[in-house]
Amino acid sequence: MPAMRILGVSGSLRRGSHNTSLLRAAAQSLPSGVELVELDPAILKAVPAYDQDDDHDEVGSEVRALREAIAGADAVLFATPEYNGSVPGVLKNAIDVGSRPYGKSSFNGRPMGIVSNSPGPLGGVSAAKHLQNILPGISGPILQQPEIYLNGVGDAFDDKGELTKETLQKVLKQYIDAYAAHVEKHNK
Ligand code: FNR
Repeated sequence: MPAMRILGVSGSLRRGSHNTSLLRAAAQSLPSGVELVELDPAILKAVPAYDQDDDHDEVGSEVRALREAIAGADAVLFATPEYNGSVPGVLKNAIDVGSRPYGKSSFNGRPMGIVSNSPGPLGGVSAAKHLQNILPGISGPILQQPEIYLNGVGDAFDDKGELTKETLQKVLKQYIDAYAAHVEKHNK
């Protein structure tokens, strides 16, 4: 049984999402003993819009499933697209839901990684920077170096969703190696 489990959260619900494909590519370069489990996008889609009143009520099964998936992992790796200069609303909502009730964030203590990307030239850097602002205070330590903003992902995958662009493979591997070390360091 793997010693460490990373929850991979894709910020895109889209079938054929580059972000989901990137998580799968990342999973292939993890060291032995570390596994990446993808958060089911159906959970992200089903989680209702965050309402602070619900912090005092019995939560629904979708919210429970989200919080349990996060809390059951040793670490969380986000792969996010940029939507209109920020993270997709569905991802921000999931983070808000996962971070509450106050003081009981499911992300607490879990080492975090952030992989942004875009078919465009800037690699979703704005979304990644926003995540770097959102997470402190509700999560464990965020990997600071290296940072990764993958640009030009539009032609980076084959029709099975495999990452085939060598320049991006190399950069992603460097990031995942550093992230795996970060996870191991902070899980001791
Ligand atoms: C985008 N896209 C985009 N790209 C970018 O680099 N900066 C941006 O601000 C935006 N804004 C944006 C808004 C909305 C609503 C959509 C649907 C798309 C393009 C985006 O990067 C592209 O669709 C990716 O392919 C989305 O990631 P997935 O679904 O492939 O994982």
